Amino acid sequence: MAQQEDVFKKIVSHCKEYGFVFPSSDIYDGLGAVYDYGQNGVELKNNIKKYWWESMVQMHENIVGLDAAIFMHPTTWKASGHVDAFNDPLIDNRDSKKRYRADVLIEDQIAKYDEKIEKEVEKARKRFKENFDEAQYRSTSPKVQELQEKRDGLHHRYQEVMNAPGGIDLEGMKQIILDEEIVCPISGTRNWTDVRQFNLMFKTEIGAAAEGSSTIYLRPETAQGIFVNYLNVQKTGRMKLPFGIAQIGKAFRNEIVARQFIFRMREFEQMEMQFFVKPGTELQWFDSWKQTRMRWHQNLGFGAENYRFHDHDKLAHYANAATDIEFHMPFGFKEVEGIHSRTNFDLSQHAKYSGKKIEYFDPETNESYTPYVIETSIGVDRMFLSVLCHAYEEQLLPDGQIRTVLHLPAALAPVKLAIFPLTKKDGLPEKAQEIFNDLRFYFNCKYEEKDQIGKRYRRMDAIGCPYCITVDQQTLEDNTVTLRDRDTMEQTRVAISDLQHIVDEKVTITSLLKKLA
Ligand code: GAP
Repeated sequence: MAQQEDVFKKIVSHCKEYGFVFPSSDIYDGLGAVYDYGQNGVELKNNIKKYWWESMVQMHENIVGLDAAIFMHPTTWKASGHVDAFNDPLIDNRDSKKRYRADVLIEDQIAKYDEKIEKEVEKARKRFKENFDEAQYRSTSPKVQELQEKRDGLHHRYQEVMNAPGGIDLEGMKQIILDEEIVCPISGTRNWTDVRQFNLMFKTEIGAAAEGSSTIYLRPETAQGIFVNYLNVQKTGRMKLPFGIAQIGKAFRNEIVARQFIFRMREFEQMEMQFFVKPGTELQWFDSWKQTRMRWHQNLGFGAENYRFHDHDKLAHYANAATDIEFHMPFGFKEVEGIHSRTNFDLSQHAKYSGKKIEYFDPETNESYTPYVIETSIGVDRMFLSVLCHAYEEQLLPDGQIRTVLHLPAALAPVKLAIFPLTKKDGLPEKAQEIFNDLRFYFNCKYEEKDQIGKRYRRMDAIGCPYCITVDQQTLEDNTVTLRDRDTMEQTRVAISDLQHIVDEKVTITSLLKKLA
């Protein structure tokens, strides 16, 4: 675990050193949970978005795009339930003055029991070696049973307070924190305030004060921009059910606990798609989108074992099915995408609050109804983090040196091809520049002549550039170059005239989409 944390720290500093992610307003020491994407980060992020957008909008005849404004009429958020219920329960430690999410403190405590149980099992596995019967040990070891009882008891109490009839039981939450003797990790004390609800939406004012300003919110999800445009798109696009509307855009949440770098941010980006279906067919579509989305992730080649579904037992009152796609990050399996069957809740609420009829006339049955919705919602930044975490490797080379390499899928890599003259003389830079000028029309290329060739290769490995070519004396004679593969480090001699074709085939988003199909 500690080793994994070290790897994660290295990934975070690698991101800064190589122009992927910087703390926001770095010269002023940053701003909590807000980050900027640097010269390589923005390219990787754009490629992730392109992969998603094209797989949704270009590859599905019945999905169209949208780019709704971040600011929306304030009633939107009343209708969606965010004004009243988009809250996190928070608690302060009076000694450290640190603020925590009360639910996270309890969930961490449950995880601690789980870890202790696993430790006991691992100790026993080592002790009994090949004679070890795990199931029997778990059901008979007094120590494991005691821990399991405590864990289950806590889990049960937690479920009760979270699902209390009038909403979350805040006093009950505090009592759990006291009974479990949970301490503040900073002060080490149990000097806790009461638990309070905290709304996560950022507020601001629209309009000059003289005209009469009103409070509006920075959107906490992009989805509502889609719901309020359902009629516009359906009518102007003459869309027939089932159909989808996809959108990529910024979302804002005043997260209490900002942790794990770009995993939980206050300003982040979502890629959401609302798929409108006939009532009664929603669970079939839910299953179908679960599979489609999992295939999209696994198509990147990171290994099926690094993904899992986490089906929700506790559903929001408007949902009739929900699951998360989790990815194996260095800090455990974590949610990257949510897939929800949201019934007709959002459209019905907007119909009620706006007074407009938001329905679909079904020409096959001659009836009108409010469509049901399947939502797929993925965070661009979390996706970015999962790609980087999987790609990062400190590789021990046969000569004992270590190279840091990002094994990014070629289609997502910020720079596709680096072009080097072997030396800075004999017309090699001019020839290399000529190749660069030719190929930059097709993909992102980089020309470099500084430092010896080995150092240039390492710099490109560190940003995940899949191919490097070197122009040498032979190039001037026969118009061939060496093409080096990032992952195998093998070099092959290829004709300059073949370069575009060889590289293009591997680095375009089309190559990913074809595998998906
Ligand atoms: N419209 C549904 C919705 O917003 P969500 O589970 O709250 O659902 C969807 O968010 C996705 O957005 C998450 O799976 C995650 O990838 C991303 N996300 C949510 N909060 C985030 C945050 N604070 N920082 C980064 N990504 C976040």
